[in-house]
Amino acid sequence: MATTIELGRLTDEWIWAYEGYDPRAERLREALCTLGNGYFATRGAAPEVTAGAAHYPGTYAAGCYNRLTSHVAGRDIENEDIVNLPNWLPLRFRVHPDDGPAGRWFSPDRERGGLLLYRQWLDLRQGTLNRALRFRDAHGRHLGVEQSRLVHMGDPHLAALRTTFTAEDWSGTIEIDSAIDGTVANTGVRRYRDLASAHLTQVRTGVVEEEPDTVWLHCRTTRSAIHVALAARTRCVSGPPPERIAVTDKLVGRRAAQRLTVPLAPGEPVTVEKTVALHTSRDRAISGPLEAAVERVRRAGDFAELLGSHVAAWGRLWRRADIEAPGEAGHILRLHLFHVLQTLSPHTADLDVGVPARGLHGEAYRGHVFWDELFVLPYLNLHFPEVSRALLMYRYRRLPQAVHAARAIGRDGARYPWQSGSDGREETPEVHLNPRSGRWLPDHSRLQHHVGSAIAYNVWRYGQASGDTEFLHTKGAEMLVQIARFWADSAVFDASMGRYRILGVVGPDEYHEGYPDADRPGLDDNAYTNVTAAWVLARALELTRELPASRREDLYDRIDMRPGEPEMWDDISRRLHVPFHRGVVSQFEGYGELAELDWVALRERHGDIRRLDRILEADGDSVNRYQASKQADVLMLGYLFTPGDLGRLFGRLGYDLDEATWRRTVDYYLARTSHGSTLSGLVHAWVLARARHRDAWGQLQEALASDVADIQGGTTAEGIHLGAMAGTLDLLQRGLTGLETRDGVLWMDPAPLPELSEYGFSLRYQSDGGIQVRMKPGQLWVGVPPWEEEPVRVQLARGSPRPEAGGGQLDGIGFEVAPGEDRLMPLPGHTAP
Ligand code: BGC
Repeated sequence: MATTIELGRLTDEWIWAYEGYDPRAERLREALCTLGNGYFATRGAAPEVTAGAAHYPGTYAAGCYNRLTSHVAGRDIENEDIVNLPNWLPLRFRVHPDDGPAGRWFSPDRERGGLLLYRQWLDLRQGTLNRALRFRDAHGRHLGVEQSRLVHMGDPHLAALRTTFTAEDWSGTIEIDSAIDGTVANTGVRRYRDLASAHLTQVRTGVVEEEPDTVWLHCRTTRSAIHVALAARTRCVSGPPPERIAVTDKLVGRRAAQRLTVPLAPGEPVTVEKTVALHTSRDRAISGPLEAAVERVRRAGDFAELLGSHVAAWGRLWRRADIEAPGEAGHILRLHLFHVLQTLSPHTADLDVGVPARGLHGEAYRGHVFWDELFVLPYLNLHFPEVSRALLMYRYRRLPQAVHAARAIGRDGARYPWQSGSDGREETPEVHLNPRSGRWLPDHSRLQHHVGSAIAYNVWRYGQASGDTEFLHTKGAEMLVQIARFWADSAVFDASMGRYRILGVVGPDEYHEGYPDADRPGLDDNAYTNVTAAWVLARALELTRELPASRREDLYDRIDMRPGEPEMWDDISRRLHVPFHRGVVSQFEGYGELAELDWVALRERHGDIRRLDRILEADGDSVNRYQASKQADVLMLGYLFTPGDLGRLFGRLGYDLDEATWRRTVDYYLARTSHGSTLSGLVHAWVLARARHRDAWGQLQEALASDVADIQGGTTAEGIHLGAMAGTLDLLQRGLTGLETRDGVLWMDPAPLPELSEYGFSLRYQSDGGIQVRMKPGQLWVGVPPWEEEPVRVQLARGSPRPEAGGGQLDGIGFEVAPGEDRLMPLPGHTAP
């Protein structure tokens, strides 16, 4: 794997560690060392630093957005951002030796020459970020510092930081400045530097009267008027008796701080604990955020106690979702799972939030919600269905807004926004900056109406996996039908073709936003859009037919269903146009007529050409002219649908998608994709693995390297890529096993990768959870825990799937595993060693 940074030590698969200090890698580490609990998250910045070139401390509460107006490119534009909240981390220190000059406030940047040890590691099992450092100052005095922090997984409003100082060869005092810093702004992404960034106002600070070791800060967001309060208690818990410790309050400007001056003696460690509570006015069951934060800190135990309950909460999560794979891949997968669970935990189930594309780990894409949930929910469905449901509820609450958006362009049904934030309006910026050319350019990515199909797909998959018919038959059905209606009303009949067409859209490959030199944006007949639209229409028909009569009546009433609509859906779902050229599915009408790019020459000239769009634009050219895609577009169909389902879907549309056509299509786009999104490697790995293509492992390695090696050139530092992280987990869980949950049966159709032939995971399927699945070379092992009430039924496909045969679904080996038992089965068509 082409990693540019040192990865975690492999000696312990639960530890993700970095040795040494490198300011150039610091922002990336901060993103990857973020701690969170689904309610809020804090980047892994060192507690003594402030925002600057090398560092960016950031704290984000899920769903806490604010809107600001900026003046760029000659116009006023409005953006909604996830708000960087006051920083609770600050804990600076400086030494005052008895016999010598005082030291400076410590900073790893200033003391680099004297840093004898600098080690930082995530303990994934425990959910802690730890740091050990040792340095010698200019006067030859040595100080050791050990630090651990947590963002509590049990009580989502709490965080804590424990620091132990050891003077090795001197005595004196150490001065500690512990603060909540409200001087923060949203300045984490360089490309956004011309945009307004001050989201917080009315910052007030204070010391809690009855608790002199606790300070607080209260503020609110400027437009969304969300009140935010933090309280921080700082105590010296070991070392000298309290009367020898001096404490001064420093409430200066937007900073609430306390200074502790603590005696230090050689070899005698002193430990300081900072305990923090965070509340916002979005929280339930509180009287007000400030009172709640102060009270929460007051009731919080010491670090050891918090750590105990935090580790126990993580233990419960790991029991519901774990994945084990050997070597570096396994190590990275566990890190991915860790970050997925920190962004979307069971606490998320209580919130009104969507899936933020970049986690709660940075400010890229402003914390917006795209279609990335398509890569996340199918994974969560089999572990935390209540979280999936809550994320779908985020969409359901914004259905009226999507209906309004459709109406605004004169269409029926629901048009979900490409980028979504607080209230579900379209948040996609109208212009974006090409950092290569310095030019602000029109952004037409809002034409990615296919986001609606992703939501419909998730509704349906969630229903399949969870058996939650209550949701599927009510809110789920309403969303699905309104999305179907939008497609039906977007389709225009072309009499010369005898087919319906969807015109003026952008597909998942965002590089193509229009035809070369066209005066209107958008493309016609994007195959992914049309095929998924046909699928949505067919599912809407099926679902409305299956609904109990009273539910159907309720639904039709609510949405004002008109006579003839279902017949119309049926017709469109069978006659949408899908373009082909040279024996492959065309990404859109006319794709095959675009110029071919000289990939070799471009690579020679530029090295990394993932962001071809920016490179070409900076050269005065346009990617719209070429057969060159950012990420999987047509091939996304192979990600969402099994070969059998895809064959049937094309068949319903009157096209023959045989295995040879699909293989040609895969190779065609593989050669014309620059992988400018982390989703690309993931989707290609999945599709290639299903097609038993030898490049599958290379693509999976790329997907695994996405964030840990920051392969998109600096983007991970601005936030992890949650879709790629969750997607790699799902690749093992469903992609390589061919796992499907339907009709009370686990269907399996394994397509093992020789390079990853043994791995295991647990899943929860219409049960309490704990079903164990383990792939072995040529074998499949399934274990069912004793607490299950029913045997688990498994249907294993026979041999390799062919599209026309419907994969292994029609013809397989069925077996049952009783509670408390396990079964080892040979994989048909594979040889065990
Ligand atoms: C990708 C989109 C994705 C977005 C947010 C973009 O770079 O092209 O498919 O939804 O990032 O992750």
